[in-house]
Amino acid sequence: MRIFHSLAFVASFAGLLVNAQDACKPQDRTFSTEQTPAGNYQPSAVFMNPASGLASSKFYITVVNLTPHRIKLDNTHSYQMDTFDFGDVPQGRSRQNTVKYRNRIATQDDAGEAYYSIDGTDKKFALRLKGTGPTVDQRSVTLDLSGMNLGQRVYKFPGGESSVSLVITGSAKYGFYASIRHDRGGWMRWIYNTIKDRPIRHLFLPGTHDSGMSKITNKITSIGNSFNTQNQGINIYDQLRAGSRWFDLRIGSVHDNDNSARNLGFHTLHVNDETASLCIGNSGESLDEIISEINLFTRENPGEIVFFSLRYLIGRYEFPDRGPIYWNDQLWSDFLSKIRGVNNRCPNLDTSVPFQNQPASYFMDRNDGRGCVIFLLNGQNLRDVPKEAVGDGLYAQNRIGIKDHWSNMQNADALVPDQINNFKNLNRGGDGDFSQVHISQWLSTPDALASTAYGLQAFAIQQVNPTLYWAGVAGMSPESWPNVLMVDYIGVQQRDQTSWNTLSAEMYWLGIGMNLYVISENCNVNKWRSPLIKARELELAGGEEWNGIIYPNGTMVDHPPPELHPGHASVLRNGTIFLNGTVLETTVPNPWM
Ligand SMILES: *[C@@H]1O[C@H](CO)[C@@H](O)[C@H](O)[C@H]1NC(C)=O
Ligand SMILES: *[C@@H]1O[C@H](CO)[C@@H](O)[C@H](O)[C@H]1NC(C)=O
Ligand SMILES: *[C@@H]1O[C@H](CO)[C@@H](O)[C@H](O)[C@H]1NC(C)=O
Repeated sequence: MRIFHSLAFVASFAGLLVNAQDACKPQDRTFSTEQTPAGNYQPSAVFMNPASGLASSKFYITVVNLTPHRIKLDNTHSYQMDTFDFGDVPQGRSRQNTVKYRNRIATQDDAGEAYYSIDGTDKKFALRLKGTGPTVDQRSVTLDLSGMNLGQRVYKFPGGESSVSLVITGSAKYGFYASIRHDRGGWMRWIYNTIKDRPIRHLFLPGTHDSGMSKITNKITSIGNSFNTQNQGINIYDQLRAGSRWFDLRIGSVHDNDNSARNLGFHTLHVNDETASLCIGNSGESLDEIISEINLFTRENPGEIVFFSLRYLIGRYEFPDRGPIYWNDQLWSDFLSKIRGVNNRCPNLDTSVPFQNQPASYFMDRNDGRGCVIFLLNGQNLRDVPKEAVGDGLYAQNRIGIKDHWSNMQNADALVPDQINNFKNLNRGGDGDFSQVHISQWLSTPDALASTAYGLQAFAIQQVNPTLYWAGVAGMSPESWPNVLMVDYIGVQQRDQTSWNTLSAEMYWLGIGMNLYVISENCNVNKWRSPLIKARELELAGGEEWNGIIYPNGTMVDHPPPELHPGHASVLRNGTIFLNGTVLETTVPNPWM
């Protein structure tokens, strides 16, 4: 009996020790407060004028470090570059590195490489720049992470003074991950152990703006076109796979011009004012398409939390010049019966607790672990019908506390500081915890003239989205970050390139890295030791090994020969400049591989 007792005592004492070791400790913090040099915004004049955009031979490669290790620049060499400015990236920070080719007309010899290592590990990677032909846009960028078993990605010239971005997360103990490509889509389930106890207001979720507008479908007859009215390049299924978990979905019913009682269907709409007597805009995906896309995603990726913020919820005539048609019982019930086709809705959630205060597991565990698709209704146009249907999993938007910040500005140099100023002082965790979900709308609102002339896509992929990875990351810390980072054209990197392999995956890995690394370093949010500094856990078992190459046209080579490194300079020419300023006086074989 005595022995039994003391064994039990030893066992529980050991349990306590493990717990103490497993606790988050402020002295374990690795997040750096070191500043990297301020970055540059692409001037509007550059992308608004394609000629000057192509004439500009300057562009950037932004490296984001969401690991507990410093990323160290070991060396660079460059040939025929006016600027070749690369540097270290401290933990939790980013650096916008600058490249400016000397020659307007590229030559085969223009080249440069930056060699990096991950401090305290044997991991190395290289960034390679090369002129591949005579025109400026034939300058390619290769992110070569083959030395980390994470593959290589070749990008085309991103546009004058725009950038290519690389996000690295994970750690030596956890394994490293990088934005060379998307991974399995179900990232929340993948890091379940890390996020399960965090309330929704302590998560970071990628989001999309005007989410259903990935195409123009002309269900209403108006002047909206793909330039001024289309906000996304990929449909809801691909947006989900690209990491988005918060959707701005604006649904309306479209009615027969001669018979308002005849509903021709529910569609995404994007209009200037859905209640105006004459509204202008256009339609995008149909509700039926969206529902089947959601169901496909949740079937393939069970266990996620997906929020659909629903707006408009109003009818318009096909020719939308005679005011809105407010939904009656029939339209509301037709809408409800459509929504009942969405699998893994979460009816009858506890509405006495604001959703932002429920832990992620409250939603992820539902439907036998298949997770939750949650509809949040903005009911401002729901006049004569209910504003929620709790039994069907549709909730009034005020069931979750939201601060939604829209800048309503056209240019990145104004809107980016405005977005950052609105989240950089939000205190997360402990006393004075910011008690709501903050939505950052990281997107440009060009005037009608500018969007019609240059396209919402150009604003998003050239100017605004690239700033997220230097300015945006620099504005976030373990104590302050937005919960939803909402963008236009998620995943799109090259104009009109929307097939899966041509997309870029920075947003996906930013989302994972913020939750896994940055937020885990705040001991008031995360009571356990950061998953990146303790030994690798089971949640990661089965990570896909891949060390291939993705080319700009989307071609993916899964098993390239080990010596294949696109953009690698095999000789260093007379005149090559090294990081230390030494200039080569003869041509030699490149000693680095
Ligand atoms: C895509 O690019 C790769 C590498 O440059 C090339 O080998 C391949 O032929 C291209 N594919 C197409 C369809 O153009
Ligand atoms: C400068 O760097 C090059 C290349 O790493 C090296 O060969 C050379 O010795 C360095 N020069 C000095 C003065 O350190
Ligand atoms: C290297 O370039 C310099 C400057 O153009 C030239 O003076 C020198 O002769 C070259 N050296 C060799 C070995 O070609």
